[in-house]
Amino acid sequence: MGACHFQGLLLLFLVGASTLIMAQKLFCQKGTFTGIQENPANTFNWTSEKVEACDNGALCQETILLVKTAGTKTAILATKSCSLDGTPAITYIRHAADPGLVAISYSNYCEDPFCNNREGLYDIWNIQETKEETKGTTGLRCPTCLAVGSCLNAPSLACPNDTDRCYQGKLQISEGNVNSLLEVKGCTSIIGCRLMSGVFKVGPLWVKEACPFMSISTRKIDSGATWLHTSVWKLKLLLMLLLLVLGGSASGP
Ligand SMILES: *[C@@H]1O[C@H](CO)[C@@H](O)[C@H](O)[C@H]1NC(C)=O
Ligand SMILES: *[C@@H]1O[C@H](CO)[C@@H](O)[C@H](O)[C@H]1NC(C)=O
Repeated sequence: MGACHFQGLLLLFLVGASTLIMAQKLFCQKGTFTGIQENPANTFNWTSEKVEACDNGALCQETILLVKTAGTKTAILATKSCSLDGTPAITYIRHAADPGLVAISYSNYCEDPFCNNREGLYDIWNIQETKEETKGTTGLRCPTCLAVGSCLNAPSLACPNDTDRCYQGKLQISEGNVNSLLEVKGCTSIIGCRLMSGVFKVGPLWVKEACPFMSISTRKIDSGATWLHTSVWKLKLLLMLLLLVLGGSASGP
């Protein structure tokens, strides 16, 4: 009698647990956004009306990459979804934040239903706008543009103080079978092709940075120096061989 009662309780417990598991199936907001916007901190609403039911063991994630060059609008690449990899954490990275170029990413992995529910960007994108009067004091001008895909034109703009070179690059962003390309040109103080500061994974997004046109002048100088270096080295070797041959023939019969 006692055992029977216990079994009944166990059954009840099992039924209860399984309905609990059913009830706990994780739902997340789902959506992607790629575009250029003015003043996203005040205007961008990241809420997605779409819902995704996750596989077991998944988390919700929301990830955004924001890029800006001086005098242009802001490029936004954003995604919300279930995610099977990642641990609950918030990652915020300022990849670049000089007066010319800004690149910031934010990623949130969380485990509660609809926890990827961030709406605004005000606390992520609190970038000081470059003041007009600080522009042009360096005398440097750079082609400047920002576009999803390719820039149609890149007007040459005066660079703000504290920038000393031009950046020209492309970010190829992929997530599953979603692919976006971002073209970025502008003044900066970043050395080399490092708008993303070497980071290639932002939440579920893979980011590949390439700057095909940027280092041509430095490469010329570099290869020139290399050529000079090898030719001096070769000359030395030739001289040594000559001395050896001369020495050999001198001490020969
Ligand atoms: C963002 O959009 C959602 C739904 O579309 C709305 O409920 C919410 O109030 C909006 N938030 C802001 C800050 O406008
Ligand atoms: C810009 O740089 C110049 C030269 O370094 C400096 O004299 C000037 O005060 C700077 N302007 C601002 C607004 O910081």
